[in-house]
Amino acid sequence: MKQIVKAAELTAAIEEAKKQGLEIGLVPTMGALHQGHLSLIERALKENDLVVVSLFVNPIQFNNKEDLEKYPRTIEADLALIASLPQARAKELLAFTPTVDEMYPQGEPKDVYHFGPVEEVMEGPRRPGHFSGVAVVVRRLFDLAQPRRAYFGEKDYQQIAVIRSLLEQIKYPIELVPCPIVRADDGLALSSRNMRLSPEARAMAPAINATLEQAAEMAEYEEVDDVKEWVLDTLSSYHEINDSPNGLKFEPEYFEIVDAITLQPIASWADAEKNGAVGCIAVWLDGVRLIDIVKF
Ligand code: PAJ
Repeated sequence: MKQIVKAAELTAAIEEAKKQGLEIGLVPTMGALHQGHLSLIERALKENDLVVVSLFVNPIQFNNKEDLEKYPRTIEADLALIASLPQARAKELLAFTPTVDEMYPQGEPKDVYHFGPVEEVMEGPRRPGHFSGVAVVVRRLFDLAQPRRAYFGEKDYQQIAVIRSLLEQIKYPIELVPCPIVRADDGLALSSRNMRLSPEARAMAPAINATLEQAAEMAEYEEVDDVKEWVLDTLSSYHEINDSPNGLKFEPEYFEIVDAITLQPIASWADAEKNGAVGCIAVWLDGVRLIDIVKF
């Protein structure tokens, strides 16, 4: 593994790799790595000759200054984790850790991307400018790393739809590889935000995935709207039915059942016959906003 801070140095390494005909895989991250990120890196190492992992907290995708400031920065531990992967020794791996100035030498770009219906639902209206900021940084990473494949986690399900749309717009021949969510043993989707949960909240959080799994079973015999309502009710009333410590409550922000590709809400299961249906949730617990999905 080699750490690279300068964009020019990355470009030089990529040009050399291209000359040798190497296939490049890109794994964009914001650092604070956990097993979820590592699963993407492992998959990229299996499928490519050279893997670029970027670790960059992208300021322009945060619509909340406090969130940006609070974002964990654990670069040394991240690099050690990457280096500990067994395949990291066998293959070429570049860890790209630019500064903000290095990433945006002309200052923060003002480019705005639009993605139509896929950004008009769920996270889109709640985080104005977020997906455009993601697209700006991902495009810059595409330009620098020139990957054949790019790896994204289904934890951020809507982000994948946005990147799919970005690739259609910019027409880069890059294969988008969606990767399954990695969970803790108790089912909670791994996330850098989990660190912010109190021990009591962390013990309660697996109920999100458990509720979604039950919803998937219900979908065999219940209508879409009934499943939706049940999930929202179950989580909202969790603290009344269970002995939740310190008055902790789940406060769902949304739960939508959508077409797996168009991300448009479906009214009946038949509406998602072609692409499948996915349930996407954002829920507050202990002042932390958690997201998760379930496939129906
Ligand atoms: P970040 O939140 O660091 O996530 C990096 C990648 O890891 C994303 O594709 C995300 O979906 C994936 N990931 C996170 N938790 C996961 C889990 N439990 N299982 C599987 N994959 C998981 O997403 C971003 O960064 C940024 O928006 C980025 C794309 C890097 C642009 O700045």
